Amino acid sequence: MESAKDNLKQEAHLLIFPSPLQGHINTMLRLAYALSVESGLRISFLNTDHNHRLLSFSSPSQHSPFSLLSNFRFLSIPDGLPDDNPRSTFYLTELLQSLKTRAVDSFRALLLAGGNRDTDGWPPVTCVIVDGQLPHFMDAAQELGIPAILFRTINAYSLWVYLQIPQMMEADELPFPADEDLDVPIKSVPAMEGFLRRRDLPKMCRGATKADNEKLQLLASNSASATRSKGLILNTSNSLEAPILSKIRSLFPNTYAIGPINALVESITSSSVSANLFAEDRSALSWLDSQLDRSVVYVSFGSIALMMEEEFMEIWNGLVNSGHRFLWVVRPDLVANATVTIKLAELEERVRIVEWAPQEEVLRHRAVGCFITHCGWNSTVEGMAAGVPMVCFPWLWDQFVISRLVGEVWKVGLDMKDMCRRDVVESMVRAAMEGEKAEELRQAAAEMAVEIGRNVGEGGDSRLDFERLARDILSLSL
Ligand code: UDX
Repeated sequence: MESAKDNLKQEAHLLIFPSPLQGHINTMLRLAYALSVESGLRISFLNTDHNHRLLSFSSPSQHSPFSLLSNFRFLSIPDGLPDDNPRSTFYLTELLQSLKTRAVDSFRALLLAGGNRDTDGWPPVTCVIVDGQLPHFMDAAQELGIPAILFRTINAYSLWVYLQIPQMMEADELPFPADEDLDVPIKSVPAMEGFLRRRDLPKMCRGATKADNEKLQLLASNSASATRSKGLILNTSNSLEAPILSKIRSLFPNTYAIGPINALVESITSSSVSANLFAEDRSALSWLDSQLDRSVVYVSFGSIALMMEEEFMEIWNGLVNSGHRFLWVVRPDLVANATVTIKLAELEERVRIVEWAPQEEVLRHRAVGCFITHCGWNSTVEGMAAGVPMVCFPWLWDQFVISRLVGEVWKVGLDMKDMCRRDVVESMVRAAMEGEKAEELRQAAAEMAVEIGRNVGEGGDSRLDFERLARDILSLSL
């Protein structure tokens, strides 16, 4: 019996394809790692050629956790843009459009070539996990008879909000003028009536133009495309989003809530995995080593968020005025259209700036006392799994919903959306770092980290869903 199962494993071949963005690659690579270690399945992890070149450990000569796995390999396809075309935030729409119209042909060709054993000795692809941002790749795989599971990098509440966009439009709650009261409650999104306001919807809902409305409809229809898949994977857990997970399961019964995936990987392999498209500056860690416990504010806005020079300066001055030490990830393209000049020399003792940090390790460092974040879902779950209180300054999309959850539902941080002024930054940083409020937040964050640990540990809800996923991939591969 066991050997029949082993044979099946030899024949099963899972291909995983993330959207070519840092936050998407990171989390789907973590899933791939956990699956390859735990289930022994053969896994091909597919990147675009451009990103494949940037990820140092996708080269077999580099030492990485993956080089030790004989059942794991990296593949790549062109993204359809010329090599010298920029791929930064400003060019995101162009990149996603090119994937949709051009890269999908390369994807199809790769799956067809995967049917030819002579090429590399691996069996044909028997199942795919595709990023929910790219449902047309799911359709391409299924047209070739290969079952596809969708993976969403957003959280369950945000997915639910996206799915309700048509209802909100029908109820005349969307769109609304940008300059009208943003604290008006949203009533047409079930299970979120108590706390969802206009302000907490994706920013493009404010004064939405005709083009914005079309984008919102697209968000809704992309989200609904999960009905065409064999399953939906979410990087979340019951302890975080149980009420909304049950709503989502009523639409997509085969939903796997297996997160937070960073914590799941840690629990299964006792190690962490990160995929960096940017060069990591590990000096951030040695600087933290020389700081007192919980004395540093870590500031990072993820991989694609942009800010105006004025916003940057308000946050900077608020931090300086708070008197606390801080470590800030300032990507070269973080501040749009400007080169900010900051007087670092005077603050040398108190401040460390890096272009890219080993974020998970930073968040787990004893010296970090709070996290100023844009509330990208990966950053949020990494912060929560590490038990670090947050101050939230969302940029776009799901981040507006998430920052409300952090402040109002999970109560592990403070929501600073629409309040980017130095006095507010200073008082929120103080509240998260000093005194009674900080103690309260720390306690809530620590409890949440324990609960997350339970979810991903042996017998926990997320671990059970992850094991079910591994079994289902095998049976879909039959
Ligand atoms: C995007 C969207 O913005 C987000 O809302 C969505 O949920 C996922 O995709 P991004 O904005 O980059 O991602 O944010 P986030 O989801 O937080 O992902 C950033 C990743 O980069 C995290 O895994 C974080 O650990 C990593 N990171 C960030 C680093 O490793 N080092 C850094 O210095 C900064």
